[in-house]
Amino acid sequence: MENPQRSVRTLAVDVGGSGIKVMVLDEKGTPLTERARQETPRPAKPAPILKVISELAATQGEFDRVSVGFPGVVHDGVTHTAPNLDPDWEGFPLAEELSKMLGKPVRVANDADVQGYGAISGQGLELVLTLGTGLGSALFINGRLVPNLELAHHPFRKGETYEEQVGRAALDRIGKAKWNRRVRRMIDLLQRTINYHTLYIGGGNAKKLVGDLPANVKIVSNEAGLLGGIALWRE
Ligand code: BGC
Repeated sequence: MENPQRSVRTLAVDVGGSGIKVMVLDEKGTPLTERARQETPRPAKPAPILKVISELAATQGEFDRVSVGFPGVVHDGVTHTAPNLDPDWEGFPLAEELSKMLGKPVRVANDADVQGYGAISGQGLELVLTLGTGLGSALFINGRLVPNLELAHHPFRKGETYEEQVGRAALDRIGKAKWNRRVRRMIDLLQRTINYHTLYIGGGNAKKLVGDLPANVKIVSNEAGLLGGIALWRE
């Protein structure tokens, strides 16, 4: 029987270029379930990804609403880009389709924005970068998101973008030592251009950073990509 005392449960979903992850959070954003993960299906088109999300959701027990972190530009629940998934995501009403499928209200945001909500302190100018298949970026001023910062596709060096220089493909190609040097160059350049107070680095490859980093750079757990999902329901 339904417990009237039980708090609202949010199914947090993180759609990544290599894996799709889910977990249920309570009203405060504390995990209530073990994280479940499946490989991202290829080709990473909307229908097979929706199917994986519904399979993963079925392993998580009860939930009342859904938050999704998506690896591309999202406006009002509609996805506009997904450079590391598939061109079919352009103009796809993800929130609406997923809501029909799961029978619950759904909110969708960019994956780095969600990661940021799970990591920032809410003070000053805070930049969030995610090192995964792609390069995610999100900027916050006193806890408020500056929308749609997409550093990934901006030129960085040697005719290549940030994502081409530090994304997963580059890491696999050039190895950890060289990739570490590149990430440090990126940090140095962004510090001088954005002048953030704090930089948070998350994503699956953050653990591959070795050695010292500037004092205002913090590595955050990849789980923040799910924990931040609670913030999408704050207002
Ligand atoms: C996309 C971003 C996304 C990042 C990480 C980039 O290619 O343009 O929107 O946040 O990958 O998934």
